[in-house]
Amino acid sequence: MKEQLEQLAKDILVALDGVNTLAALETFEIERLGRKGEFNALLKGLGALAPEERAAVGARANVLKQEITAVVAAKRAVLESASLGALAETDRIDVTVPGTRPPEGHLHLTSQAISEITDIFRRIGFTRVRHPEVEWDWYAFEALNMPGDHPARDEWETFFMDAPVHSTLGKMVLTPHTSNGQIREMEKRELPIRMINISKTYRRQIDVSHVPMFHQFEGLLVDRDVSVTHLKGVLDYFARTFFGADRKTRLRPFHFRFTEPSFEVDISCGICGGTGKLSDGAKCRLCKQGWLELGGAGMVHPNVLRAGKIDPEKWGAFAFGWGVERTMMMKAGVQIDDIRELYRSDFRFLGQF
Ligand code: PHE
Repeated sequence: MKEQLEQLAKDILVALDGVNTLAALETFEIERLGRKGEFNALLKGLGALAPEERAAVGARANVLKQEITAVVAAKRAVLESASLGALAETDRIDVTVPGTRPPEGHLHLTSQAISEITDIFRRIGFTRVRHPEVEWDWYAFEALNMPGDHPARDEWETFFMDAPVHSTLGKMVLTPHTSNGQIREMEKRELPIRMINISKTYRRQIDVSHVPMFHQFEGLLVDRDVSVTHLKGVLDYFARTFFGADRKTRLRPFHFRFTEPSFEVDISCGICGGTGKLSDGAKCRLCKQGWLELGGAGMVHPNVLRAGKIDPEKWGAFAFGWGVERTMMMKAGVQIDDIRELYRSDFRFLGQF
């Protein structure tokens, strides 16, 4: 039996040499060395031996099994590191291949225009300010020289809040223009003033050139000896910087309750080039007659300065208020002929800018 045992151990070691994969090694171990394997099967015969012989053969069997187990372990280590190497080959990563960029977002066209406008006015000393967009009647109308029942108020198509009426400030409204910022700024009592108030404005209107929520930027300058010439200079500076030298502006006499004299500021249309007609002879859908109204301007009315607790004998002021969207749509290269497109949230449209 001893010889049988020695032979089997030799056979096993020879066979082990031919095992080349981890899977094969697994099966090999079970068949040869496992509980029901070849080696144990042979040892079943131990019981039939005489006691001394049984002890000697048993001891030898243990040594042989330990030897074989050690060889198997070494073999496993070799096979494992080989398989890792193979994995490194097949799963190799080329770190020099360019990555895939996630899609990049950008600011909405209106936000881009707001920062550009802010920047242009900052260069001539105007500070961007912010004031409430849900506002009291006093700031939106009354203090702007538009008493309670004045018909001029109808122009502003106002949204009223469903809120209690304030005993002195009146009803609560959504800002129909940014001119409330004039009074709010004067109230700070820090003179002189050079502000640019940009905010959301709301009116009950919707068509090709109106949306119920839009933006305005309001300039206010309060200082000593202010004249219409200063106003004109600031408007021209803005028009040249924002639109480019080929766009023309004009001032038309107008009437606002809060400025005197008042003007309407127009700019030549960028879609039809100021002609009112497209190249195929059709009427320009946006302007119809070559000029687009940007908004109002004028010298601040003495009553407004008084409402803001400023002495009109000592201080003069001019103000202007234009629509951000309308201004931006007039810019060279931005060929948008329907203001509603801006707020339809269609990425195919917005992504172009
Ligand atoms: N608030 C006026 C409007 O919404 C514009 C304006 C502002 C006019 C400042 C004159 C001075 O139409």
